[in-house]
Amino acid sequence: MKNIAVVTGASSGIGREFARQIVQRYPKLDGMWIIGRNEERLWQLQAELPVEVRIFQMDLTSEESIGKLTAELAKENPKIRILVNSAGFGKLGNFAGTSCQEAVRMVEINCVALTCLTYACLPYMPAKSRILQMGSSAAFTPQPGFAVYAATKAYVLSFSRALARELRSRDIWVTCVCPGPVDTEFFEHAGDSEKMSRIKKLAMAKPQPVVRKALLDAARHKDVSVYGLSMKGTRLMAKAVPHRLLLPVMGRLFKEQENTPEEEL
Ligand SMILES: NC(=O)c1ccc[n+]([C@@H]2O[C@H](COP(=O)([O-])OP(=O)(O)OC[C@H]3O[C@@H](n4cnc5c(N)ncnc54)[C@H](OP(=O)(O)O)[C@@H]3O)[C@@H](O)[C@H]2O)c1
Repeated sequence: MKNIAVVTGASSGIGREFARQIVQRYPKLDGMWIIGRNEERLWQLQAELPVEVRIFQMDLTSEESIGKLTAELAKENPKIRILVNSAGFGKLGNFAGTSCQEAVRMVEINCVALTCLTYACLPYMPAKSRILQMGSSAAFTPQPGFAVYAATKAYVLSFSRALARELRSRDIWVTCVCPGPVDTEFFEHAGDSEKMSRIKKLAMAKPQPVVRKALLDAARHKDVSVYGLSMKGTRLMAKAVPHRLLLPVMGRLFKEQENTPEEEL
């Protein structure tokens, strides 16, 4: 039976960096299953990784994809030592001004796919294995101008912390990774990057140290991993200050558009 890691969102950014660092950090792994839609990029990653890599080119928002993965797990019966759920995206803009389809897609990939994949992988996870879920510092407070995205990440944080508690008796450890802005293609897909404030741009981290810290925190059995002093400060502030007072500040960070008086009743 093979010891493997499963990484979603491996075709880009943080997920790809997880795949690279996991093979360096855990050389005893026999292989890795990498998942994403961009097949060419998955092939490129496969070529650079010094372990047996299986590519799953699929859209994780489709039920069929989850079914295919579940069937493959049943067939291969691997030991999943590390699961990283990194696939996800966010769309900037006021809720009413963005498409409903896009909002639903955010929920489908950030919440539904992550939940289904965790469920599908758990029966194959022995004691001492780890689950790393990509949350975000957006999980700490509601974010006007990024409302649905922040809500999806609040779900990931809440789900992961409860799951961490449930799985403790099985000696399986869950870490929710909650960085601030990271320099990946995320903001290209997020839409108008002009909407991101200068403060956010200044706080931008590189994926390498974010992933390094996440793997270290997972090895230390921490249930939340927050990279950087500014994000640790943000988390503390979100715990200490009533969200009612933080909402206008968050709105300014994402340049939320005010309703005009004509739009008010
Ligand atoms: N970058 C940041 O500032 C930041 C901060 C905090 C948290 N995060 C979170 O970190 C995670 C990774 O983001 P990133 O920064 O690495 O962004 P990224 O470079 O855009 O990567 C996103 C990854 O998700 C995959 N993906 C998206 N939709 C998918 C779908 N329907 N089916 C399968 N795969 C899908 C993409 O693969 P394909 O394109 O091949 O489909 C890609 O590999 C996300 O969950 C994001 O919310 C990012």
